[in-house]
Amino acid sequence: MAKLDTLQGRTALVTGASSGIGRLVARRLAAEGARVVLVARRRAARERVADEIREDGGEARVLPCDVGDRAQVLEAARAAGPVDVLVNNAGFGGRALFVDHGLDEMERMVRVNFLGALWFTRALVEPMVARRRGWIVFMASVAGRLGVPGESIYAASKFALVGLAETLSMELEDAGVHVMSVLPAAVDTPFFTAEDRERLPSVARRGMLAPEAVVDAMFDGLRRGRREVTVPRRLAGVYVLRALFPSLVRRGTRRATLSRLAGAR
Ligand SMILES: NC(=O)c1ccc[n+]([C@@H]2O[C@H](COP(=O)([O-])OP(=O)(O)OC[C@H]3O[C@@H](n4cnc5c(N)ncnc54)[C@H](OP(=O)(O)O)[C@@H]3O)[C@@H](O)[C@H]2O)c1
Repeated sequence: MAKLDTLQGRTALVTGASSGIGRLVARRLAAEGARVVLVARRRAARERVADEIREDGGEARVLPCDVGDRAQVLEAARAAGPVDVLVNNAGFGGRALFVDHGLDEMERMVRVNFLGALWFTRALVEPMVARRRGWIVFMASVAGRLGVPGESIYAASKFALVGLAETLSMELEDAGVHVMSVLPAAVDTPFFTAEDRERLPSVARRGMLAPEAVVDAMFDGLRRGRREVTVPRRLAGVYVLRALFPSLVRRGTRRATLSRLAGAR
């Protein structure tokens, strides 16, 4: 059962559901009939999203959890119970050169962006396999396929997610569990501080996506049984270009990003 047919009567868990893309994903899942479990750290923000869902007639439950903490993730997964749809969405960025990153900050980014998703998936996958039903989404990034200066650790965490998703999608296919990664370009959410926005290449700033476009692409991908969705789709062409002409893409990427980062130091 690869294609998501209906959400009626199904349980969905969304990490990072208190803001941005995760908030809209949670609201859409609930609007289509799923019982939604909202995972995030900020109490007021996650309660606000739960209230929005209930006001629209949906069902929402909130679970406090720092996804960068393994014990909290395992406890939240236990409290959630069996889940049909897992959306590993929590994450954060921040643009800086590798030499300006502290080790604690690097480790935290890998924990939240990658290990949190790994832990939730490991904790929730077995009941899916036992029931031969489940959908697992990884909210990765175009930075999970293309390295860009200023995103070394972020890219490493997202490349790891994409690799995990690609492998799992093959391992779990015969068990009835569908795995999909979503790779958006820059999206207009609180993810970016004003300073981060300044440091974005102008092409990324001009072409910033509405979070709704990412949510539409994610649901469309699930309905069609897709395994990897890049938003906007045409950017996937750059993966091909990079494989064929690596030096060309490398030069263009350096030119578009490095001066802006160096100027911000
Ligand atoms: N915006 C973009 O340009 C863009 C592009 C590509 C991919 N993405 C990915 O999309 C995902 C969502 O980002 P967004 O743009 O919607 O950003 P956002 O508006 O800043 O939302 C991030 C969400 O992640 C949660 N979160 C962060 N750290 C967490 C932690 N330690 N434990 C639990 N939850 C945590 C936040 O909730 P609390 O603070 O309440 O915990 C919040 O709900 C991220 O994985 C991001 O990497 C974003």
